[in-house]
Amino acid sequence: MEVTIERILPGGLGLAHAEGRTIMVALAAPGDRVRVRIDRVKGNVSFALIEEIIEPSPHRVEPPCPYFGLCGGCDFQQLTYQAQLEAKVEIVRDCLRRLGGIENIPEIQMTTAPSAWHYRSRAQWQYDSISQRLGYFESGSRHVCDVAECAVLAPELQQTLENLREQMREGSLPAGARDFRAVVGNEGVSIATSVGSRTVREGADPALDRGTSPTVREGSKTVRDITRTIRGETYHLNAELFFQANDDLMPQLIDTALGEANGENAIELYCGVGLFTLPLARRFTHVMGVEGDKAAASFARENVATAGLSNAEVANRNVSDWLEQEARAWLEKHLGKTCQKPDHEVGQLDFLLLDPPRTGAESRVIASILNLKPRRISYVSCDPATLARDLKKLIAGGYTLDSLAAFDMFPQTHHVETVVHMMIASSLPSSNPSS
Ligand SMILES: C[S@@+](CC[C@H](N)C(=O)[O-])C[C@H]1O[C@@H](n2cnc3c(N)ncnc32)[C@H](O)[C@@H]1O
Repeated sequence: MEVTIERILPGGLGLAHAEGRTIMVALAAPGDRVRVRIDRVKGNVSFALIEEIIEPSPHRVEPPCPYFGLCGGCDFQQLTYQAQLEAKVEIVRDCLRRLGGIENIPEIQMTTAPSAWHYRSRAQWQYDSISQRLGYFESGSRHVCDVAECAVLAPELQQTLENLREQMREGSLPAGARDFRAVVGNEGVSIATSVGSRTVREGADPALDRGTSPTVREGSKTVRDITRTIRGETYHLNAELFFQANDDLMPQLIDTALGEANGENAIELYCGVGLFTLPLARRFTHVMGVEGDKAAASFARENVATAGLSNAEVANRNVSDWLEQEARAWLEKHLGKTCQKPDHEVGQLDFLLLDPPRTGAESRVIASILNLKPRRISYVSCDPATLARDLKKLIAGGYTLDSLAAFDMFPQTHHVETVVHMMIASSLPSSNPSS
């Protein structure tokens, strides 16, 4: 069947219509005239693969990666960089309109990546010990695509991948290893691997000082955790934990997420190792970060302490539980003299920042936020669809959109990071201490 790609949809697929059907086409460019093969059908939607490009879109380029199409890692290499950016802005807009029911969407500022290639400073590789393959899952499957060279990896991680491949050839990778996670730090690369349910960690080791990557040995203990310096703040972390993957854009992401915020008190939900907690603690009198992962929360505490920020605390709790059981007490303990009068229209919390995982914030979290009524909210999201779902609830609860910014943290893929600032309708600038 021949179709013309109309535009790129959230999820990165190209939209087309033919024979009364809605067709979603993988690895397409808007304007492509293509012959497609239907791969599977779900309800009214057919999912298709390109068999032949009849007339290429002006936005189409030759994907440089030899694994493109098989590897599930990059799905935008067929687009010019400009077309990738435009598609991402449209993806965010589309989600906010269709899933968020938001009509007057403010202009979306897109911050481009300084490097569209070799930018990833954190990666996860899958390992199939039977077929001796190491790389990424193939698109839509759990088969491992064997990747010798990955065009989006930072050079340190490419070197680490080669080192692991060498160990794979020698048969010296830990028995039972299923995947490897790696993150670049000031001292080198930290690697973790899952062996059954156990995680074996190898931090930067002295071998790195000689310019090579660390060796992963079965049964090795944590050697050393790494540090990263961003905007003058030092963060301790390791490969087991979440950390943003594009170093180049982290300073701008932090600046935009915090905006002009300052005041008495701020709560940060899903704080990880404290990427935003430290800068928040430089601006607010009292800061509370909440993080569910024990190791990440412990790193966040260490990072806050090393920075000498005694005004910031980190709770190792599930965000919904902490909000329901402890947020009110924390706030009352730290209320400044200026805002002790109860105000049922506007809460007493100056600022709330949340950066949830791809699944977004649970309903209980949104309900608790609406109960707390922070004057300002900054929502950092890596999934426009769940962001839109959550914004819809916050808007219904009395918040208005103040600004929207997108960051191209993941060039060559459809993924996009978004930062949304909101304010409570009754705290428009005159009554907002942080504006
Ligand atoms: C997208 S990461 C953001 C981390 C941090 N803001 C950063 O940029 O480095 C989400 C974090 O939320 C944590 N998390 C996920 N679900 C959670 C929950 N229900 N309660 C508390 N923390 C959770 C994860 O462990 C992870 O560290």
